[in-house]
Amino acid sequence: MRRPLIAGNWKMNGSKAEATQLLNGIKAGVAGMQRVDVAVCPSFPYLYLAEELLADSAIAWGAQDVSAQAGGAYTGQVSAAMLKDFACRYAIVGHSERRQLNGEDDALVASKYARAVAGGIVPILCIGETLEERESGRTEEVVARHIDAVLNSSGVEAFGAGIVAYEPVWAIGTGVTATPDQAQEVHAFVRGRIASKNQEIAAGLRLLYGGSMKPGNAVELIAQPDIDGGLIGGASLKAADFVAICQAGEDSA
Ligand code: 13P
Repeated sequence: MRRPLIAGNWKMNGSKAEATQLLNGIKAGVAGMQRVDVAVCPSFPYLYLAEELLADSAIAWGAQDVSAQAGGAYTGQVSAAMLKDFACRYAIVGHSERRQLNGEDDALVASKYARAVAGGIVPILCIGETLEERESGRTEEVVARHIDAVLNSSGVEAFGAGIVAYEPVWAIGTGVTATPDQAQEVHAFVRGRIASKNQEIAAGLRLLYGGSMKPGNAVELIAQPDIDGGLIGGASLKAADFVAICQAGEDSA
């Protein structure tokens, strides 16, 4: 069945010293865990630290973004091949902060997804509605649009090589978490949409929940049948909290 995955999205936080401390703390904390996959996504400059400190552990690391281009004259961008060079397993694509603050649209996100897969990086596709979209009853319409952008450009097979994270924008960094029922409802909808194209791929697809996931609510969220782990922001910056969420993943499997 689907192994739970707990991934930390550190966003633009920390320093070299803090990243070192956090990586070592997480490494020590999850050392005995067998049934959960654990990943950290620091900022680009600290990926080398993850490679250095985690190479002899079961923890994987990933980037928070990846270029839609293979390489060349794209100042400031980082390619999938470069991430591979630092032994990254994952790259987050389409995080709502990038959609909102960097103007990334569905077409660009789908290109990044495809580029990651082609480069041997597992994309973690972030999808999710704003508060206004939820309140006007458009949640399914929005997540369907986010999913269909990849389905239509890369085909359903691409979901055999990636991960989806449902992150309702109103729950990110707000302390307001989707209830387990709210999250499960959207996860089931997403899995169903993929299943209408390919049941086997849908059954194997890992769907993470993200948005104020904490040690206190992780157990209940991960217990939902279509929630296969979490993409953790704030709580991934404290080793003890992140390790506790990993333990919830370990105990759910
Ligand atoms: P928080 O856990 O801080 O709400 O962030 C979630 C997130 O955006 C992970 O990508």
